[in-house]
Amino acid sequence: MPLVAPSLLSANFANLLPDIREMEEAGASVLHFDVMDGHFVPNLTVGIPVLRSVRKVTKLELDVHLMISNPDHMAEAFAEAGADWVTVHYESSVHLNRLLTMLRERKVKPGVALNPHTPVSVLEESLFLCHHVLIMSVNPGFGGQKFISTSFEKVRKLMDLIRSRGLEVRIEIDGGIGPANTAEAVESGVDVIVAGSAIFDASSPREAFRLMQRSADETRAAKVRASAPSAQARSVRT
Ligand code: DX5
Ligand code: ZN
Repeated sequence: MPLVAPSLLSANFANLLPDIREMEEAGASVLHFDVMDGHFVPNLTVGIPVLRSVRKVTKLELDVHLMISNPDHMAEAFAEAGADWVTVHYESSVHLNRLLTMLRERKVKPGVALNPHTPVSVLEESLFLCHHVLIMSVNPGFGGQKFISTSFEKVRKLMDLIRSRGLEVRIEIDGGIGPANTAEAVESGVDVIVAGSAIFDASSPREAFRLMQRSADETRAAKVRASAPSAQARSVRT
């Protein structure tokens, strides 16, 4: 089933623990952790010491999104600090397949993120190493930006590529997603929905998470039903 991954970028950096607990209680299984270096993207966030601290206080899977130059040099340190998923950008990785292989060997779920201007075709020779591919639906660097409307079309292209290779790679989307476009995301083929401001800026982050997760689950269930009409018809007859 699809997952909603709350992004800690919009949580309270002065005291992350209550926000993490609230997402645990709401039913999240993955937390998105954005790392920015002020070089690859025009903003700075947190790094390894904060990841280590978060790792100590939660069992939720930590999906570390590295918006940094030179992930070839840094990704391993994030794996050691407790990341469960590590997502590197295609645009800043030099030896991408070596990097993904290293992460796999470290039992981390490796993924590649694509900026809005990067076509999915660049992944043709790397997809087989990916646990997930992250489609950036805003230009990375900030929370609360407007969703880029062509992103779902890109998700469909990625799904075609994954299917044509007979692979099982999850599709993640990041930026400008909230309750209003969660269903469309899942409809287009998204498995993992990152949401920062839509959850943590809501009056009840718990309810915002649940609303999005319910919308994602219902859309996926309807999709499954629609793709097996004959099985459904048979079950109705009996
Ligand atoms: C932006 C980050 C996102 C960010 C999304 O560059 O990668 O993970 O938290 O924020 P929203 O959901 O507010 O667009
Ligand atoms: Zn992110």
